[in-house]
Amino acid sequence: MLVSLKEILKDCECHKYAVGSFNTPTLETLRAVIHAAEGLGAPVVLNHAENEEEVIPIEVIAPLMTEYAKNAKVPVAVHIDHGETFPYLMKAVRLGFTSIMYDCSNLPHGQNMEKVKRFVELVHPLGISVEAEIGAMPNNMAGCANGHEKSDLSNLEKYFTDPEEAADFAKQTGVDALAVSFGTVHGSYEGEPKLDIERVERIKALMPEGTALVMHGGSGTGKEQTRAAVTAGIRKINYFTAMDTAPAPVLFEVIKRAGGEPVHYGRLARLAMEVMEEKVKEAMEIFLNSR
Ligand code: 13P
Repeated sequence: MLVSLKEILKDCECHKYAVGSFNTPTLETLRAVIHAAEGLGAPVVLNHAENEEEVIPIEVIAPLMTEYAKNAKVPVAVHIDHGETFPYLMKAVRLGFTSIMYDCSNLPHGQNMEKVKRFVELVHPLGISVEAEIGAMPNNMAGCANGHEKSDLSNLEKYFTDPEEAADFAKQTGVDALAVSFGTVHGSYEGEPKLDIERVERIKALMPEGTALVMHGGSGTGKEQTRAAVTAGIRKINYFTAMDTAPAPVLFEVIKRAGGEPVHYGRLARLAMEVMEEKVKEAMEIFLNSR
């Protein structure tokens, strides 16, 4: 069933777990995520990022996302990930998204707060949930990610979220979800990730009721640190790279074994979907934190 993010986050807070939030720019990723969530009987969030337009336009993927969400046996929110331009977000409203991340984290703090506050006032009466970001999420993706170049990863602490600033931001804006930076990166890690779990605890202690904490860059953070982040108060985890890169080695083997004979694309697509479903299930089981 199609629901708002706020509704899902209420359940997450009540049962102390994090909902998985997965980008679904292809039919295979979309079906893999829905099957995994139904298999686990857990709510889920389907993301479409503004910078995924070059993979698939929102007008094409939105009806599929909302249709799968409506027919799902579990609560599903349909969410814009890293939305940055206002006309694009208005299009998302028209297309039935139930949740929107308005990412103004590249602007000075005051401007980020002002823009998000106005956006919340605009879309809350429509029943749409809002996520914002404070601090910055560094990128380590080939080419560029979320419209930004690869970040300097030599010192991640410079991107970290300040707990007092986060609390003030949440109170002033009334956002439903707030992405915070404490050591995760978008894409793969260079070396072992080291999350500042104590920072999450401090942010969580200051957060007003009704604002949930979000961790982006869920791929590759490892079971122990991810669990610790959820225990410390993270209630939504964005996850994509590990899911989207999982099928390639399996498909490569299938093509290699065919020894030059034709391989039907339908078979590869089905196999990719199965591999991604397993990967999503594995991740969600960690996020559920023995719910
Ligand atoms: P990963 O691709 O690193 O899992 O991050 C996804 C994400 O945070 C999307 O917003």
